[in-house]
Amino acid sequence: MHLRPARPDDADLLVDLVALAVAWSGRDAADHAQVLGDDHLVRYVEGWPRTGDRGTVAVDDEGCPLGGAWLRLLPASRPGYSYVADDVPELTLAVLPHGRGRGVGTRLLDACLTGDLPAVSLSVEDGNDRARGMYLRRGFVVVGREGGSDVMLRTAPGGPATAGSTATW
Ligand SMILES: CC(C)(COP(=O)(O)OP(=O)(O)OC[C@H]1O[C@@H](n2cnc3c(N)ncnc32)[C@H](O)[C@@H]1OP(=O)(O)O)[C@@H](O)C(=O)NCCC(=O)NCCS
Repeated sequence: MHLRPARPDDADLLVDLVALAVAWSGRDAADHAQVLGDDHLVRYVEGWPRTGDRGTVAVDDEGCPLGGAWLRLLPASRPGYSYVADDVPELTLAVLPHGRGRGVGTRLLDACLTGDLPAVSLSVEDGNDRARGMYLRRGFVVVGREGGSDVMLRTAPGGPATAGSTATW
């Protein structure tokens, strides 16, 4: 397995990964068409790539995708589920079912947290303890509540005490 930057031609993959993130429990089914047709979910992928987007894709030895993670700035006028501030990017992360449980998700998460980001937010649904555990171990803390999910925020060491003040892109 290795990691590579997400590319413009990964747009369809990212749509599928949003569907997997929604369907993490197996309770809520979601597919490609539903993501594209859902005004909220589509915000994470529409127009990919946009200025400020940054992402990583994990691929196997044949170059087939195993999963991906990306960050997108979503404005208050069209926020994601983990909106904190206009200058705090929201994280999306999912690993294809056959790639799970061997460190791919952790490596993708770490790839998104390297660099100069003052803060990153995400949404994790109640019961998704595998994902929640990863986030807690990487320093995310719960800062809000949206439906049946927690909004989590990670402020980088040396970053702003309060998110949403000084991020630059
Ligand atoms: C959550 C997800 C991204 C994790 O990816 P992954 O590649 O399976 O995760 P990893 O192998 O890196 O393991 C992450 C943690 O889960 C634990 N884990 C792995 N497989 C597990 C299993 N079968 N049961 C319980 N815990 C497990 C690991 O021990 C690890 O914990 P650690 O940090 O204490 O070592 C992946 O399961 C996934 O895509 N789930 C569906 C989509 C989703 O939930 N996305 C996140 C939305 S917020």
